[in-house]
This record gives sequence, C-alpha cells and structure tokens, in this order.
Amino acid sequence: MNKKIAELKIETLISETDIKKRIKIMADQINNDYKDQSVYLICVLKGAFVFATDLCRQITVPCECGFMAVSSYGNAKKSSGKVKITKDLDEDIENKNVIIIEDIVDTGITLNFLKEYISTRQPKSLKICSLLSKPSCRKLSINIDYIGFEIEDKFVIGYGLDYEQYYRNLPYVAIVKN
Ligand code: IMP
Ligand code: MG
Repeated sequence: MNKKIAELKIETLISETDIKKRIKIMADQINNDYKDQSVYLICVLKGAFVFATDLCRQITVPCECGFMAVSSYGNAKKSSGKVKITKDLDEDIENKNVIIIEDIVDTGITLNFLKEYISTRQPKSLKICSLLSKPSCRKLSINIDYIGFEIEDKFVIGYGLDYEQYYRNLPYVAIVKN
C-alpha cells in the first residue's frame, strides 16, 4: 500500500448497522416478490462481493449464486466508459429468475451493458439490485428494482467498494475526504 492510500482521510457515510437493517428489508422484498419461485443471483465482482454475501444469507426462497466480473474503471476514480467482461457465468441461466447484484450504479454504463448481455441468455425474468446509487451521475438511464441507498456524487469506499483496490474490507461505507 503506498503512502497516499495509507493516509486517505475517510468519514463514515453509512454505518454497518444501517447497512444490515436495509439489507434485511431488501431481502424481505425479494422473498416476497419471488414467493414459490427460485432466484439466480449474479454477483458482479469485485465490488458486490460483500453485499451479495450478506444479502443472500437473508434470502429464504431457493437461491443459486453465480459470479461475473467486469472492468470499467481501471485503477482510478474515473470510469473509462468501456465495459469488458473479465469473468463470465459458468452456468446456463435460461428460464431462470435472474437478479443482478451490484455494489453501486454511477453512470449506469456497466449495468446497461450487463443487462443487455444477460438478456441474450434468455432468463425467465431479469431484475437489478444495487446497494448504492448515485442518481445525479447517470449517463444512461437504468431501472433499478431494489436500491439500498441513494447517495450524492461523492466517491465512496468500503463494504466491497475500493480505492485503487484497497478498503474493500471496511465494514461500512465511507466517503474519501481528500
Ligand atoms: P458505472 O458503470 O459508472 O455505473 O459504474 C459502476 C461501477 O463503478 C461500480 O460497479 C463500481 O465498481 C465503480 N464505482 C462507481 N462509483 C464508485 C465509487 O464511488 N466508489 C468505488 N467504486 C465506484
Ligand atoms: Mg462494481
């Protein structure tokens, strides 16, 4: 870890307790929407791995978990605007109730790309679930079916979100101050 990253000034934006409470509400909504059905969760790596593990343990309908990885950011704070799949699903999702699990929707470019890509695999249904959303940053509109928290246009870290690959292990969401 370089000095710049080690000395990052951060401030809590969403506490561990608030995240936990909100996830329970989101999971209850999903359990209710898919009553008597099963779901296939797609965790979008790396950012969504913490959220997805907490969310899936509150899901009570039969649930499969798949993983995809995409890159659009490089290592900086700005998106390159180009999405690349770096890890695809291992299984067939045809005829399944798919829910994409994301950490944050910023410009909407990643999710628009993913939604289109996953639709070509002919799922029975396709919904989007994101812990965070920055509505003022949208470049492409996207309907998010389950949103944890709407936040301002600030760069956030923790709870899976990184700053140059660090801070994903922070148990809460924080704002970078400098
Ligand atoms: P979008 O394509 O601009 O919507 O960006 C989505 C991806 O960018 C997210 O899945 C995150 O990985 C990353 N991202 C966007 N905003 C932030 C942030 O504030 N902190 C860390 N990562 C972010
Ligand atoms: Mg992400």
